[in-house]
Amino acid sequence: MTDTVADARAKLNLFLAVREARPDGYHELDMVNVEAGLSDRLTFCDRIVPGIQMRSNNRRIPLDERNLVWKAVSLLLGDRPNPGIRIEIDKRIPVGAGLGGGSSNAAITLRVLNETRSLGRDRDLPELAAQIGSDVPYSLIGGLCRCRGRGERVERIDVAQSSEPWLHVLLILPNVAVRTAYAYRWLDECGIQDECHPSALLDAIERRNIGEIRDNLHNSFGPVVSEWVPQIRHIKAVTKTLFGLEPHLSGSGSAMFLLSDQAGELSEMRDRLRDGLHWPPCRFEIAPLTL
Ligand code: C5P
Repeated sequence: MTDTVADARAKLNLFLAVREARPDGYHELDMVNVEAGLSDRLTFCDRIVPGIQMRSNNRRIPLDERNLVWKAVSLLLGDRPNPGIRIEIDKRIPVGAGLGGGSSNAAITLRVLNETRSLGRDRDLPELAAQIGSDVPYSLIGGLCRCRGRGERVERIDVAQSSEPWLHVLLILPNVAVRTAYAYRWLDECGIQDECHPSALLDAIERRNIGEIRDNLHNSFGPVVSEWVPQIRHIKAVTKTLFGLEPHLSGSGSAMFLLSDQAGELSEMRDRLRDGLHWPPCRFEIAPLTL
């Protein structure tokens, strides 16, 4: 049986405003997302034995019905598919970092199984994605999108394309995970309802003005997560001292990022951070962004 290999990209929130809490327990959101060139690799292989089998190089992810990939398979094929399926996840996107790795894994699973098993359910995929998690509908589409509602109302934003990526990210990845549900609770406890609007950011992206893009990045979780997570507070302070720029969170963290239209500028920043940031232990990644 032949293997199907597919890459699942990380997402970055350039803008994330958490508006009011909804009666269903979720929050109304307004987000601008892009795809970062950092991927997990998923390998799908049919098996004679019915059922789902999962493997991963990362011991921190559950390999059972708690995994969003498992949920995607069981929504499309049932709990005990026949022929069965084995899925190996080679994880590079950090877990619990706000980079949507689990959501992106689930989205690619929906796409691959729909295609390889000729299910013809293309039109159902957005609805199934929304049942799996708030970020999964975005991951089905990717690129530059505005996402509203719970996250499931996804609208592609068309900007002039270029053959080479012009926007790059330095990801600062501390070895801490932030529980998204807790971060929402911290916001609720502070009574924060963010009415900020992304129009200035979208306008700056359209004009490729890196200074204005940096000035208009926004994340409602920034202040509360910094208050609760000392590692994040410290990284922000050191980065501000070194470069006069504060890194932003993606999602509710713990991933933080700096943007530039020059990948070389980000390499210099990474090297200076490696020297100047003695705590917490961090991984750094530089990647192009897909708009
Ligand atoms: O949908 P997902 O499982 O990714 O959401 C994880 C948690 O984040 C939810 O249980 C909820 O507490 C919170 N959340 C929210 N409003 C959203 C998305 C997520 O309150 N729009």
